[in-house]
Amino acid sequence: MSAYQELQGTLRSAPKTWLITGVAGFIGSNLLETLLSLDQQVVGLDNFDTGHRQNLERVQALVTPEQWRRFRFQEGDICDPSACVAAVQGVDYVLHQAALGSVPRSLENPRRTNDTNITGFLNMLVAARDARVRRFVYAASSSTYGDHPGLPKVEEVIGKPLSPYAVTKYVNELYADVFARCYGLSSIGLRYFNVFGPRQDPNGAYAAVIPKWYGALLSGEQIQINGDGETSRDFCYIANVVQANLLAATSERAEAVNQVYNVALGDRTTLNELFELIRQRVARSVPAAASAVANYRAFRDGDVRHSQADTSKIVSLLGYAPTHRVAEGLDQATAYYLAVIGR
Ligand SMILES: NC(=O)c1ccc[n+]([C@@H]2O[C@H](COP(=O)([O-])OP(=O)(O)OC[C@H]3O[C@@H](n4cnc5c(N)ncnc54)[C@H](O)[C@@H]3O)[C@@H](O)[C@H]2O)c1
Repeated sequence: MSAYQELQGTLRSAPKTWLITGVAGFIGSNLLETLLSLDQQVVGLDNFDTGHRQNLERVQALVTPEQWRRFRFQEGDICDPSACVAAVQGVDYVLHQAALGSVPRSLENPRRTNDTNITGFLNMLVAARDARVRRFVYAASSSTYGDHPGLPKVEEVIGKPLSPYAVTKYVNELYADVFARCYGLSSIGLRYFNVFGPRQDPNGAYAAVIPKWYGALLSGEQIQINGDGETSRDFCYIANVVQANLLAATSERAEAVNQVYNVALGDRTTLNELFELIRQRVARSVPAAASAVANYRAFRDGDVRHSQADTSKIVSLLGYAPTHRVAEGLDQATAYYLAVIGR
C-alpha cells in the first residue's frame, strides 16, 4: 500500500480541519474535492480574483450533500489580515494556494502580483503562526529555478529569478524558512511544475498552455506556440499535486518538515509533443481537430527554455508516488474539457 493510500484511510477514520486558500481556483478546488470526499472539515478562502464560483458548484455536484455540509466558504482577500485570522481559526492544516499566477501578468503589473503573493502570503503566515496550526503547506513554484541551466532541477540549486512572479515565489520560501526558525511554524513548500487538469481556466490573457489549447481546439481556433515548440516542461497532472499536499500536511518525519519539494513527474514534454498529444485526444471526439495546425510566434519574455524536476526528494521524504503520467492526465483533462467546452 502506498503512503498516500494509507493516509487516506487514516484521514477517513480521524477527520481533520483544513483551510484551503484560493479554494475557488484550479488547484484549490481540486484539493477541496479530494478532502471532502475523504470526509474532512474544510474552510475555504477566496476573493474570486482569478477563481470562479462555478468551480465550487462543480465540486458540490461531485460530493454528497453530507460532505458538502462540512465545507465553510469565506469570501475574502488574503491582503486583509483580518480575513486571514478569521479563516484560520480552529484549523489543523493550511494549504495556501491563493496567489496571482502567470509570469506575463507579473511583468505587466508587478505591484499587484507582489501585493497578493508577498503581502498576502505574509498575512497568512502570521495568522497561521498565531492560530498555532499544525502545518502550513504552500504553493511554491518551479519558476524559482530561474536562469539556472542545470537539468533536472534539484531543490538546493537555484538561479536568478526571471520575472517578478518568480521573485514572489522565492520570497515565500524565504519567509516560510524564517518563520520556522524564529517562531517554530512548521511549513512545507511545494514547487509545482506546470500543473494541469479539470477546472484549470481556459479563458483570459493569462491562461496556462494546456487549458488554452483545449479551448482553442474545441472552438476551432488556431493554437499559438510561443517559440519553435522545442521548449519543454515537466507537466504534472493535478491528482499528483493533491497527493503531494496531503502528504506534506500530515508528514510526521522531522527531517521532512521545513523543506521545499519539487512536485512533478521528472518527465520532459516539448510543446510540439504536447500539441500532438492533445490534438490526437480531441480528434477522437471532434474529427476536425485532426487537421489542426499550430502557428509559431515569438518566444515569450521571462519564460525558461527547459524545465524538468528531480523528484527524488519528495519520493524519499514524503513517500510521493504519482498516480498519473502525462498521457493519463491528458486523457482525464480531455474528458473534462470536452464535457464543459465541447458541447
Ligand atoms: N497551475 C500551475 O501550473 C502552478 C505552477 C506553479 C505554482 N502554482 C501556484 O499554485 C497556486 C494555485 O494556482 P492555480 O493554478 O490554482 O491558480 P488559480 O488562479 O486557478 O487559483 C488561485 C486562486 O487564488 C485566488 N486568489 C487570488 N488572489 C487572492 C487574494 N488576494 N485573496 C484571496 N484569494 C485570492 C483566486 O481567486 C483563485 O481562486 C498559486 O499559488 C500559483 O502561483 C501554480
